[in-house]
Amino acid sequence: MNSINLNTPSLKKHEFNWIRDYLYKQSGIVLNDSKMALVSGRLDKRLRHHGITNYQDYFNLLDKPGFEKETMMAIDLLTTNETYFFREPHHFEFIQKWLADSSASRKLRIWSAACSSGEEAYTLAMVLAEYAKTPEWEIVGTDISSRILEKARQGLYPMMATEKIPTLLLKKYCLKGHDEYDGLFMIEPKLRKRVDFLYANLIEKLPDLGSFDVIFLRNVMIYFDLATKQRLVLRIQDYLRSGGYLIISHSESLNGIKSDLKMVSPSIYCKHL
Ligand SMILES: C[S@@+](CC[C@H](N)C(=O)[O-])C[C@H]1O[C@@H](n2cnc3c(N)ncnc32)[C@H](O)[C@@H]1O
Repeated sequence: MNSINLNTPSLKKHEFNWIRDYLYKQSGIVLNDSKMALVSGRLDKRLRHHGITNYQDYFNLLDKPGFEKETMMAIDLLTTNETYFFREPHHFEFIQKWLADSSASRKLRIWSAACSSGEEAYTLAMVLAEYAKTPEWEIVGTDISSRILEKARQGLYPMMATEKIPTLLLKKYCLKGHDEYDGLFMIEPKLRKRVDFLYANLIEKLPDLGSFDVIFLRNVMIYFDLATKQRLVLRIQDYLRSGGYLIISHSESLNGIKSDLKMVSPSIYCKHL
C-alpha cells in the first residue's frame, strides 16, 4: 500500500510567485516576498486535506472545473479578515452627525464594501437604528469571502468583541448568549434583518446594488496596487449619490487617484454635487 507523506513540503520561490500572481488575478491583493512563510503556513492544511505532497499539484486543483470551492478556500486563507466593532470610531461619530443634519425623507443606504465578518456593517446598523430620524434605512455588506459572509449573517461574536460597543447600544442591540452560546453574544434579530450580506469581488464587475449615501471602503485598498485602487475608486464612485460620502481607513489614502471625490476631512471624501 502507498503511504502518504504528511511532512510539510517547503514552498519554493517559483511556487510562491505562482500563488502570488494567482491571488492578484483573482482578488487584486498584492503579496510581497515577506509573506512567503505566511502563505505556506496557511496553505499547508489544504495540501494535507487533499493528501497532496507538493504545492504544484495543489495549484493544479485551483484551476480545475469542479474545484471552485477550493479556489474560494485558498483566497479565504490568504486574505486578512481582521475587523472589529466601532473600528476607527471617528467615522461613526461622523455618521451620527450626518444623520442629525440630514433632512432626507428617502431611504438612507450605506454600503460596507469588504465587510469581513460583519462588525463594520452591524456597527453602522446600531448607529442608524439609534440616531437616524427616519426608520427607512438599509445596510449592505459585501465581501469576496463566502465563508466570512456566512459568519457575518450569523451575527454571533465572542463577548470579548463587545469591548468598543457603547453601553447604550450594547444593551439595546446585542443579546448575551447562554448555555451552548455561553461566552458569545448575538446581534439582536430585528437589527440583523436590516443588514444584507452579499458576495462581491471589488476587482470584478460589481452587482447591481443601487446607489448609496455612504460607502465604507476601509482596510482593503491597503492590499491593492495603485492601478487597482484607481480602477476601483472610479467604479465605486458611480454607486454614490451626489453629495454622498466615501469613507476609507485612516491608514489609507487616495493620493494619486483621480476621481470626482473631494476630501472633506482625512479619510472622508464627498462626491461632487
Ligand atoms: C481587513 S478586512 C476589512 C474589514 C472592514 N472593512 C474593516 O475595516 O474593519 C479586509 C476584507 O477585504 C476582503 N477582500 C479582499 N479582497 C477583496 C476583493 N477583491 N473584493 C472584495 N473583498 C475583498 C477580505 O476578504 C477581508 O474580509
